[in-house]
Amino acid sequence: MTDSAQVFQLRSIRRTYQVGSEFVHALDGVDLKIYDREFIAVVGTSGSGKSTLMHTLGFMDSPSSGEMFFEGKDVSNISRSERARLRATRIGFVFQSFNLLPKLSVMDNVLLPLVYGRTRTHNKKELGMSALQRVGMEHRASHRPSQLSGGERQRVAIARALTNQPRLILADEPTGNLDSKNRGRIMDLFGSLLDEGITLALVTHDDEVAQYAKRHIRMQDGKIVEDDGA
Ligand SMILES: Nc1ncnc2c1ncn2[C@@H]1O[C@H](COP(=O)(O)OP(=O)(O)OP(=O)(O)O)[C@@H](O)[C@H]1O
Ligand SMILES: [Mg+2]
Repeated sequence: MTDSAQVFQLRSIRRTYQVGSEFVHALDGVDLKIYDREFIAVVGTSGSGKSTLMHTLGFMDSPSSGEMFFEGKDVSNISRSERARLRATRIGFVFQSFNLLPKLSVMDNVLLPLVYGRTRTHNKKELGMSALQRVGMEHRASHRPSQLSGGERQRVAIARALTNQPRLILADEPTGNLDSKNRGRIMDLFGSLLDEGITLALVTHDDEVAQYAKRHIRMQDGKIVEDDGA
């Protein structure tokens, strides 16, 4: 594959936390290439480094060492503001606990990435509405998150991740708080986003959810120990 098809490349990425006199190697030498339009499931036991990997890919956390390339560009040592810009404009992040702001309406939650990304646009509401339409939640635009079911909240959180039309969606156990019906709906929704050209990496503990993915990465003790797409 050519470099233009490469979304991410990680080389020898380490993330070490110091807790008192102890060092925790949350990522312990991770090498990974992610290509355009891939659908990757990241699995592994609790504490194996899955969330740390997602936060690293999402520019929410910086590696302690190693090299990182995004869309062919070396992003290992970019500034805080550049990281914030990439996080806000190129990546959509979906959390297990939805992370919607309770005091904002559904629409205002969905429009938040435009604020963070300082995206200038004249048609904010249209962008928000189109993101909500993609997840079938346009009829709830003026509701508060507390007035929605769990599955609906996660659909709104996915709409929010889509507002800036990111290339890559990262999801950390997006179906962890959902029943099987809603889990199926969310996975179908991800399937249609993949058809539209998005690249997706998600963490899951659920074998059924992992089966939707085409590539499976298993983590253990901060390392990738299995990768059926490498
Ligand atoms: N802020 C932190 N300070 C110290 N250690 C941390 C911190 N965050 C994570 N760790 C440690 O790093 C390791 C990897 O954590 P991580 O959250 O990536 O695991 P995980 O695979 O996502 O687990 P889970 O399935 O439970 O969500 C764990 O041992 C954890 O205790
Ligand atoms: Mg985790």
